[in-house]
Amino acid sequence: MRQPNLFSLSRKEGWRRFADAPPRQRPDTLTRPQLAALGEAAAEDYNDARHDWHANFGIVQTPQLAGIHDELEQIVASNRQDGDRIRSAAVIDALPGLGKTTIANLFGRDFDRQQMRRLSTVTEAGHERIPVFRVGLTSNTTLRTLNRMICEYFGHPATDRANAAALASHALDCVLSCETQLGIIDFTDRR
Ligand SMILES: Nc1ncnc2c1ncn2[C@@H]1O[C@H](COP(=O)(O)OP(=O)(O)OP(=O)(O)O)[C@@H](O)[C@H]1O
Ligand SMILES: [Mg+2]
Repeated sequence: MRQPNLFSLSRKEGWRRFADAPPRQRPDTLTRPQLAALGEAAAEDYNDARHDWHANFGIVQTPQLAGIHDELEQIVASNRQDGDRIRSAAVIDALPGLGKTTIANLFGRDFDRQQMRRLSTVTEAGHERIPVFRVGLTSNTTLRTLNRMICEYFGHPATDRANAAALASHALDCVLSCETQLGIIDFTDRR
């Protein structure tokens, strides 16, 4: 039986679990006699599995979701400029609750899986490969907080003490060492 996944997508370990998780298995549909035949513990387990299943309703491939996925794919695929050139970024903006976070996470997961399939899990220099970083921020965030959140995602030890410039340099260091290709910055408006 699979428990609900208790992890944060804003930490590399949590993101890895999200990216590597196999699809959930739907619990068998039991008939009334089969249900009645279950012992107390088995019934409890069965109901628990059903609750998990229903709480994790699958993602519906809406036209909007598919459309944005394609556009993001184009933007990321054409971002092949060398490091001295500016690359384009994508911004997804919509009213609350329309699925911006959902789309970004799904796209990031597909991208992560692709990269991990094509490249080794460890970089040539021997660092852990982390193709995607993801941070969640509120709307009034400073550059310092953004860099701190990136460092926290990567598990950098010096996130509390460092000043703004050091944080920026640690964040850059993490991204370069882990050969991170995609960054997701998820804003939640708490106004
Ligand atoms: N394509 C989809 N299929 C199924 N559920 C979806 C889909 N898109 C969004 N949802 C569900 O709708 C809810 C809101 O989605 P989400 O959090 O992605 O929206 P959001 O635009 O990021 O909202 P906010 O502006 O508050 O951050 C979530 O519970 C999510 O699981
Ligand atoms: Mg959101």
